[in-house]
Amino acid sequence: MLAKSYTVSFQGIDVHPVTVEVVINNGLPNFNIVGLADKAVGESRERIRACFHNLGVAFPAKRITVNLSPADVPKEGAHFDLPIALCILAALKVFDTVQLEEYIALGELSLDGTINQCVGILPASLHALESEKGIICPYQSGNEAAWTGISNIIPAKNLLDLINHFKGDQIISPPVAPTNIAAHTFSVDMKEVRGQVMARRGLEIAAAGGHNVLMSGPPGAGKSMLAQRFPTLLPPLWPEEALEVSIIHSLSGLLPDSGLVTQRAYRDPHHSISMPALVGGGAKAKPGEISLAHHGVLFLDELPEFPRYTLEALRQPLETGEVLIARASNHARFPAKFQLIAAMNPCRCGYLGEVERECSKAPLCGKDYQGKLSGPLLDRFDLFIQMQKIDPKDLVLATDDGEDSATIRARIMSAIDFQHERGQRYKNADFKSAELLAQLEPDEALSELLQKAFDRFSLSARGFYRLLKVARTIADLAHHEKINKEHLLEAMQFRMVV
Ligand SMILES: Nc1ncnc2c1ncn2[C@@H]1O[C@H](COP(=O)(O)OP(=O)(O)OP(=O)(O)O)[C@@H](O)[C@H]1O
Ligand SMILES: [Mg+2]
Repeated sequence: MLAKSYTVSFQGIDVHPVTVEVVINNGLPNFNIVGLADKAVGESRERIRACFHNLGVAFPAKRITVNLSPADVPKEGAHFDLPIALCILAALKVFDTVQLEEYIALGELSLDGTINQCVGILPASLHALESEKGIICPYQSGNEAAWTGISNIIPAKNLLDLINHFKGDQIISPPVAPTNIAAHTFSVDMKEVRGQVMARRGLEIAAAGGHNVLMSGPPGAGKSMLAQRFPTLLPPLWPEEALEVSIIHSLSGLLPDSGLVTQRAYRDPHHSISMPALVGGGAKAKPGEISLAHHGVLFLDELPEFPRYTLEALRQPLETGEVLIARASNHARFPAKFQLIAAMNPCRCGYLGEVERECSKAPLCGKDYQGKLSGPLLDRFDLFIQMQKIDPKDLVLATDDGEDSATIRARIMSAIDFQHERGQRYKNADFKSAELLAQLEPDEALSELLQKAFDRFSLSARGFYRLLKVARTIADLAHHEKINKEHLLEAMQFRMVV
């Protein structure tokens, strides 16, 4: 008897359809899985055998062959347990195999028959929707599947429920996607940051245009504090962005219970992070921190402390907005359009430039420390913020708080509305250079200033466009159609040599 069920395999964020075929023949008792299965899939055999035994389903003393087709696509993960178990049950005529044709099934089996949560239900549901199928998934992942709008969902708690469902003895009811997600509240606010006017303005521009920022300053100036408060300024995730981000989180098993990510990510890995953990990869080609920060923020504190080769790996994704991980057997592509916020001290002791405190190696130690960052990496930052130490007296004596996040965010949202009004659907940081130049139309004063900027900062072509993009955002914050001299001058203040 031949039975078939359907599932998927993941390669990066790409989903490939997989057909499970089971044939039970007479012969020496044997249970084989073929079709480029990894160790987790191979171990399915033991889980399924024990699970059947515990549910009281007699495992046939026959030759069982499971084929995962297409045979040349690698199959990774424990989610193959459920489609294989269902297919064997259909081959044993426990229920009609035709019923499985309408579904894609994913789930990991426990030895007692419980269907455990597995990664990737959201992208699998989208695939099911496209192929006009339903989805059989773990009970806890029902919400995740429901967000895609797919109507035929069977969220099953255990294999016995599923058997009864297909035999018509019991109906498993579909989940209802939550329609309202509670608005996210932050426990921190920009008003807690005293002084640092330049840094606050820099972050406002960065949030309005999606620009990369490097903050440099002495210890205790408030760099980490400002970065932690940066997400309070960001616009909400637009619906299409939320879906992309949720797919990546689904593949990493990091989706919240509501089933959708609705808040821009803020990832702040420690500088001891390995390269595969940062950019993605490892034996199973998992999304890295840069992909988890897709459409959100990647904060790298103490930037020069990160290993050089780890930082250099960021260069390509920073330009292309995605990372391609190549393995001998397969290629995985993950989106990684993130906003890079970084902080550093000007030198190892941190007090370079403060005559009373700097160490005896100054200023050479500064050159040495800053030299850990390569020119190409620095060229990818749009805004450089040089911070000074804050006088403790200002902390105690200042009576009024700084502007709060809500006020700054209102200005940022108004600048983003201004961008949308001119038909722009991307962030200023993603402006195509030709389009940026086309709308520049410099007058004499602006041309003169641009010439000065070339000479003063010895700009690369990339640096020049990044300067213009920042000026564009400053113009947007002021609701100006055209970039003028003032906007460019302010952008130049953030274009310093580290
Ligand atoms: N501008 C500020 N306003 C209010 N509090 C501040 C400010 N700067 C620093 N602080 C206080 O000092 C603490 C340390 O600041 P923070 O960790 O941001 O410093 P840092 O610049 O990141 O230093 P380091 O270079 O050592 O990492 C903050 O938690 C906060 O309590
Ligand atoms: Mg810090």
